[in-house]
Amino acid sequence: MIETVQVGLGARAYDVHVGPGLLARAGALIAPLLRRPRVAIITDENVAALHLQSLISGLKQAEISAVTLTLPAGEATKSWPHLERAVEWLLEQRIERTDVVVALGGGVIGDLVGFAAAVARRGIRFVQVPTSLLAQVDSSVGGKTGINTAQGKNLVGAFHQPSLVLADTAALDTLPARDFRAGYGEVVKYGLIGDAAFFQWLERCGSTIASGDQVARIAAVRRSVEMKAEIVARDETEQGDRALLNLGHTFCHALEAATGYSDRLLHGEGVAIGCALAFELSARLGLCAQEEPGRVRAHLRDMNMKADLADIPGELPDTEGLLALMAQDKKVQDGKLRFILARGIGHAFVTSDVDADAVRAVLDEALAARR
Ligand code: GLY
Repeated sequence: MIETVQVGLGARAYDVHVGPGLLARAGALIAPLLRRPRVAIITDENVAALHLQSLISGLKQAEISAVTLTLPAGEATKSWPHLERAVEWLLEQRIERTDVVVALGGGVIGDLVGFAAAVARRGIRFVQVPTSLLAQVDSSVGGKTGINTAQGKNLVGAFHQPSLVLADTAALDTLPARDFRAGYGEVVKYGLIGDAAFFQWLERCGSTIASGDQVARIAAVRRSVEMKAEIVARDETEQGDRALLNLGHTFCHALEAATGYSDRLLHGEGVAIGCALAFELSARLGLCAQEEPGRVRAHLRDMNMKADLADIPGELPDTEGLLALMAQDKKVQDGKLRFILARGIGHAFVTSDVDADAVRAVLDEALAARR
């Protein structure tokens, strides 16, 4: 039942294994990477309670011992103080360049630990063991690592590819429903970017995936990883095509900033709303059929997901306020916002040529629907 996708990066190519029971098999899968039978695991409190013992026993089966650092759970951990703690701990534990660091957790742990591994001793290899859907389909693959600062999210970091990714789909059974749905926003994104047939399959099978069916979950994670791997292999450092993976993110990042990166809006929820708005904008610009945004929203609603600004609780800034937040986006080039738009479901493209009045009109309409 295990599927494997390779991220084709020449000498730095690596496998992403997808399927249930990978925590228990971690020892056998990680052993070929090791020069000595010892790894350093960094995780968070929530994930440690659920999965750390399974990982340690999996490692023990291959006679690999582990030292563990457990950090607090939550976005605040992706910060300078926890980076310092993680790096100093790796050095204290005498983890060498030829050793392997294991990131066990969701996107926060993967990004932080990947960055710690990138900078400690100028680069230690690391293995991603993602336990959230968002991390399995997106953040654990492709080597983007980093932390947040007072100036914004993910503004400090490095490209540091993992040596292996173990996406144990059985770990998704322990995810709270809201987190699962938020991660599903990223799955939908792949269909919207470049695979209309996958989106169609999600429309048919989304409820089966949500209900916990392993076969459907493996298929959804595998196809998402496959698409990400293809894009990363073409454009590792986001000089071009990789920006496609940011469909919905220009809107999403503004909404996350507007809601204070709080529980009011999870990242994947912002991505889902952002994808719907990107299709709305594409339709307004005459790029895609008028029905396409409705079809995107209908699927999000079928999955009980947030699909519009009206679904975000509490106050939001007005249109100009949201535009100002969008202008902070990392994708701004020469003062121009880069958007990912679509000529239809499965046909996204990157452009800097977007009429600001069209963006205003989309936001005006979406904000009006909240009243
Ligand atoms: N999450 C977007 C990327 O990895 O490029």
